[in-house]
Parts: sequence; C-alpha cells; structure tokens
Amino acid sequence: MITRREFQFGSLSAAGVALLGTAPQRVQASTAHIVSPKPATAQLLDAPEPVTNIWGYRGLVPGPLLEVTQGQQLSVDLVNGLPQPTTIHWHGIRIDNAMDGVAYLTQQPAIPEETFAYRFAPPDAGTYWYHPHNRTWEQMARGLYGMLIVREPQPPAVDRDVPLVFDDWRLGNDGQIDTRSFGAIHDKAHGGRMGNVLTLNGKPSDDIEVLAGDRVRLRLLNAANARIMGLQFVGHAPVVIALDGQPVAPFAPDGNVILLAPSQRADVILDMTAATGTSSKILALTQREKIHLGNIVYNSQKRRRAKPLTDAVVLPPNPMPTELDLKNAITTDLVMTGGAMGAFPMARYQGKDYAVRDLVREHGKVWAFNGEAGMTEEPLAKYQRGQTVKIRMINQTAWPHAMHFHGHHVREVAHSKRAPLPHWRDTVLMLPREEITIAFVAHNPGKWMCHCHMLEHQAGGMATWFEVS
Ligand code: C2O
Ligand code: CU
Repeated sequence: MITRREFQFGSLSAAGVALLGTAPQRVQASTAHIVSPKPATAQLLDAPEPVTNIWGYRGLVPGPLLEVTQGQQLSVDLVNGLPQPTTIHWHGIRIDNAMDGVAYLTQQPAIPEETFAYRFAPPDAGTYWYHPHNRTWEQMARGLYGMLIVREPQPPAVDRDVPLVFDDWRLGNDGQIDTRSFGAIHDKAHGGRMGNVLTLNGKPSDDIEVLAGDRVRLRLLNAANARIMGLQFVGHAPVVIALDGQPVAPFAPDGNVILLAPSQRADVILDMTAATGTSSKILALTQREKIHLGNIVYNSQKRRRAKPLTDAVVLPPNPMPTELDLKNAITTDLVMTGGAMGAFPMARYQGKDYAVRDLVREHGKVWAFNGEAGMTEEPLAKYQRGQTVKIRMINQTAWPHAMHFHGHHVREVAHSKRAPLPHWRDTVLMLPREEITIAFVAHNPGKWMCHCHMLEHQAGGMATWFEVS
C-alpha cells in the first residue's frame, strides 16, 4: 500500500485538477479530463531571470500528471488552444489504433479550437507519457508533454512515488525559446536540437523531500527532443524495476547511472540510506557535463516506519504477448542512412528520386530508411496479426538514434556489438554503425509508426510505418 503519495507538479492542485491527490481517485468513464494545450509562461530559469513563453497542456510544463488504474478507461478531451493543428499520442500504450494520435496516419489533427476525444483503457501498468504527434519537433520543444501513470491494481509497497521529468531547452539570452532554429537543417543532420538549459519537472531544479529509511519509487522520463541523458542520484544505489513501462528483472544500472534516450522511461526503486538532515544531488550527465538539477533532501523528522522496506520489488508482468516464434518469424530490414558524415547519395521522397542536395534544399530531408525519406504511401511492411516479426535495424549513419515503435513493445534478439538485452521496450537506443535486430509479436491491428525519437531526425526523414491486419 502506498501510505503517502506526493507529486512534484506543485501547480497542479492549484489548477483544481482532480487527477491525483493523497487518496486514489478513480477516473470515471463518463467524465473526460480536458487537456488543453495552450500558450503560457513557465519559470524555467532561476528567478530573477524572466519567465519563458511556452506551450503547455493546461498551460503547465510538464502537463498535468494523468493517472488511471490498469484496464480502466481514461477519457481525455484535447481542446486545441494552440495556433496550429495538434494531436495527443499516448507514448508506449498498446492502444487502439484510432486513439494513437498520429496526425494524418491514424487521425486528422485537431485544428485550433477543435476538440478530439481520446478514450482508451491502457492494458499495461507502468510509466508512460503523452505528447503531440504533429510538428512534434516544434510542439515538444515548446513544452508540450506530460506523464501518464497506469497504476498496478496492487502497487508495490513504497513510501513515495515521485515522477521526475527531464527536459532540454534551447533558450536565447532573453530567456525565450529560440524559435528561429526550429527545423534547422544543421540540427536535423547532426544530433538533433540540443538545448542549453536542462529542467527537472519544468524547473531549473527540484528537490525530493524524504525521510531517512524511506523507499521511493522514481518514475524517470526523458522528454528532451534529442538529448541522451544519464541520471544519477549521488550516494544512492538505484534499482531499475521497469523500462518504458514494462517490468524487468530488477537490476542495478552500471555505475548507478540510468541512461535514457529521448522518450525512454525507467521506474527505479531508491532506498533512502543517508542520514537525517543531509542532502544529495540529482545530476543529469550529458556528453560533456554533469548538471545539478535538484536534491534529495532528508527531512529532519523521525523515520516513517520503524523498519525500512527491504524486500525486492518485482512488478507483476503485463498481459503482453512475449512468446516469440523466432523460427517462423518474418524479417524486415531497416537500413538507416544519411545525416552529416554519412553516405546518402540518393533517396526517394513521396515517390520521386532526389539527389541529396536537392532533397535537403527542397524538402528539408536528410535521412532515409531503406532509401526512402519520410512517410510513404505504402507501409514498410504488412504483418498478419499474431505473427512474430523481426526488424533488422542497420545504422549506417555516424549518429545515435532512438528507434521508437508504436502500439507494440519490442525486444532485442541480436546485436552487432554485445549480447542482446532481455528488456521489452518501446524505444531502442542505437549507437553509430550498430546493427540491432528487434522482435515482437504483431498483435495490435492498425497502422503503426516507427521512427527515430530524436525529433529532428524524425522530421528530417527517419519515419516510416507498418501495418498489422
Ligand atoms: Cu513518442 Cu511517435 O512518439
Ligand atoms: Cu535519430
């Protein structure tokens, strides 16, 4: 039993949101939550630096924490308060295709002031999130994203359950989002839109208050457009219990650092083993820096319980098909080319062949899957429902990619540089020149995107789709 639940989204209760609180509040099938993306401001920088103009769901960054119990219906009305069309994609949820929120593939986007009703019952417990799937590279960079927690019917015993949402912003000297560089070819062709300001839960830093002896479940989300982050809780030993929502055999990550590519999540158990009155740093490790984003602050009150919780936390499995029939699997190759320092002589785009220089100039595309830049009329592949599928991803580029699959979780079955990992994920990080074969049971009918979640790569051509019938 969760004895005390607090969330880090301070402004939420002030907004009168009935989604979370100290007692579990069930979402009623009949009442839809209005989640309106709209322009607002946020204090991303330390005061007295100015507030930043952002776009946020209900005007908040991160957007409101949505919460539902596994198998129960979640009803959300998207009321578009933006000056451009938008959708909501429920990242990682094995959802009905019509609710997947992909503009022009599964739905028409909601135009300004229009409403779109999302209704679905998440089949899997775990940590998920939501974000737009139209002009994602711009809308997410402006602050549109939020966490979706699907509770286990019997959650494991912890003292606190704390969402930690990390983001990377590109701000100018005036403290405002650099909007002129949206869609910049340089970002597309390199590592994506790297920012210069990191935030935790939409703030320059955030503290988690604990009592010595507490056991905390952290829900980590990397909501950055493009930045890969290593997360570290100095002096503490995290145990990973789920990745991308799906339970894993608990393990201690290398060097106590949890590595998250854009869009990836980790559920982590952290036991508060330091002394009352102390505090320890939360760090985000980027390629070159360690950025201090907050602290674990040990309150000076006495312990919450006489004896700390010590039993290993093992989450119950989700009802996902995990029996892979690899012998009879159908294999699809996905050859990734393009980007700076990569070979990319010719590519097709919307049925026409282009020399790269023209494709870049005319359409801003710099990447291709199997020689095709961007979404195609016909799917990459069509699968029969229930079939085991292998996708052999061959990264011929000089860049890492965070390959995301809609509607399904996938598992590595072969890796060119190491043993395949046993985890079921919705996003797989690939390093330059690596080859990874993933497999899954194509159980979910519909049209599903598969793209790089470094959003400028997606916009630059790394996007395709498959169909399950
Ligand atoms: Cu998180 Cu296709 O997206
Ligand atoms: Cu990429």
